[in-house]
Amino acid sequence: MTVTEEKTSKTSAFDVYALRKEFPILSETVYGKPLVYLDNAATTQKPQAVIDTLVRYYTTINANIHRGVHRLSVLATREHENARKTVQKFINAKGSEEIVFVRGCTEAINLVADSWGRQNIHAGDEILITHMEHHSNIVPWQLLCERTGASIKVVPVSDSGELIFEEYEKLLSPKTKIVGITHLSSALGTINPIEKYIKLAHDAGAKVLIDGAQSVPHIKVDVQALDCDFFAFSGHKVYGPTGIGVLYGKREILEAMPPYQGGGDMISSVTFEKTLYNALPYKFEAGTPHIEGAIGLGSAIDWLESVGIDAVAAHEHDLLEYATSKLLEIDGLKIYGEAKEKGAIISFTLEGIHPHDIGTILDQDGVAIRTGHHCVQPLMDRYCIPATARASLACYNTHEEIDALAKSILKVIEVFS
Ligand SMILES: Cc1ncc(COP(=O)(O)O)c(C=O)c1O
Repeated sequence: MTVTEEKTSKTSAFDVYALRKEFPILSETVYGKPLVYLDNAATTQKPQAVIDTLVRYYTTINANIHRGVHRLSVLATREHENARKTVQKFINAKGSEEIVFVRGCTEAINLVADSWGRQNIHAGDEILITHMEHHSNIVPWQLLCERTGASIKVVPVSDSGELIFEEYEKLLSPKTKIVGITHLSSALGTINPIEKYIKLAHDAGAKVLIDGAQSVPHIKVDVQALDCDFFAFSGHKVYGPTGIGVLYGKREILEAMPPYQGGGDMISSVTFEKTLYNALPYKFEAGTPHIEGAIGLGSAIDWLESVGIDAVAAHEHDLLEYATSKLLEIDGLKIYGEAKEKGAIISFTLEGIHPHDIGTILDQDGVAIRTGHHCVQPLMDRYCIPATARASLACYNTHEEIDALAKSILKVIEVFS
């Protein structure tokens, strides 16, 4: 154990080595080398507790939900709805009817753009997003603009990777109907001070959607305290299964919105003449949902809360500081994203070496990072770069893994020198 890890574990009772044992995949080797998994912003690995939940679901209670009277259907329905309550408590929503299960953060934003947007956005209206948004918080709004004649305005980002609040103030106007803003940037690591952005948007009469895909695994989220109108995130980035995500919406807003998709479960009655829709949240959950995904997400949240999100955040912050200073010692390495408030994401380039080459050579050492535009092409354009290499950390990463990353980067430089 390094001195820092000893310090972290003493101050927060956080034992990263014990925690790692809960993740079977972390003992895998890649080309005979220990896996160093640093691609957590893309997806997190799953603890045994979540894997066990999925196996238990399929081996003991698998059934379709909401419409069966038989025992298994009742059990599966109960667990599915309990998972909804777990999510509700996790983000402190007022009611579980405000938690809509969707495929992921992307679908959550599409649902809002499609349903809320169809009802509330008209020609001449403006949708305000930021220069650091993921494509999933850009393209759904573009599709909406194409349909309605509305337009998109963009809050600029400073050289250090922070949103420029004064520009936001200028861009907000009575035409602004909704603000879409990421809580934690997937490429820069910036943690945006969303409270003040939400307050100002509300003062201007606009709704606010927060993209919480990257924040939820690392920051305690309280949607009531934030007072956001919508909050979106994906299960697979918070130690849960893929194919499940959450749209939180304030009850009165969701109630006023038309359904997003039609089909079974989202109705209360159907005739050929007229269909009456189901109550919240089922109005937005057409068809058989991802039952085991929701239950697995509930299990992931229970697991994360048992570890303690504050302890996770402290450990990751410690790792981020260590990694930042270690990588900055490397000649020719430039870090993109130097905000004062940062999550454990480090995007970097090496002078004269394409990020894909960095990723490929690191992979040979068992070090998994992400390279490319990270689905934030406008942000890459802002910094006049085609791509970066990105190391993104999670609760199970260690200082030794950061050392392995740095060592492997030095090897890349050697290969290209
Ligand atoms: C900030 C941000 N928003 C949205 C998404 C989309 O998430 P998903 O692909 O799980 O829907 C991602 C994925 O990387 C992200 O980083």
